[in-house]
Amino acid sequence: MFVGEAPGADEDEQGEPFVGRAGNLLTKMLTAMELTREQIYIANVLKCRPDMPANTSGNRKPTRHEMEACLPYLRQQISIIAPVVIVALGASAVEGLFGPQKNTISRLRGTWMELDGVPVRPTFHPSYLLHNQDLALKRLVWDDLLAVMERLGLPISKKQQGFFLPPKA
Ligand code: URA
Repeated sequence: MFVGEAPGADEDEQGEPFVGRAGNLLTKMLTAMELTREQIYIANVLKCRPDMPANTSGNRKPTRHEMEACLPYLRQQISIIAPVVIVALGASAVEGLFGPQKNTISRLRGTWMELDGVPVRPTFHPSYLLHNQDLALKRLVWDDLLAVMERLGLPISKKQQGFFLPPKA
């Protein structure tokens, strides 16, 4: 199960999570893991796009109050899906699942958290990757996804192990 922050404009329009640019990248990440969207479940902390002033584009971070309003729904989703592993995409996903954190997402990623016995892997949000094309950053996210694959007992090829590593001099 993957948990994101909130629908953007595309998701709000289509009523599906991660169908815009960040969603395309998430699909690519899944493809790299040799998974399809049909094999996983995607949810958001918020169930609708945080409102924005009229005639403005872009998104804003959900407030704590908005998160709390939507959390019972997310908790129900988790209990119905009973995921083996949850990937928390970005700081808001971690905050939605665990409450406000002292540590930043940069510190939390690379570690395992636990939610009612379910292992949770925090990592950077795909939108962050879209705004920052750094190879080293992609590799950090890929390291988290490799850890998830390992946890799920999925096969990891030599090629997959080497994704996003700097070219050898
Ligand atoms: N970002 C999210 O966190 N969720 C979506 O569904 C789309 C973009």
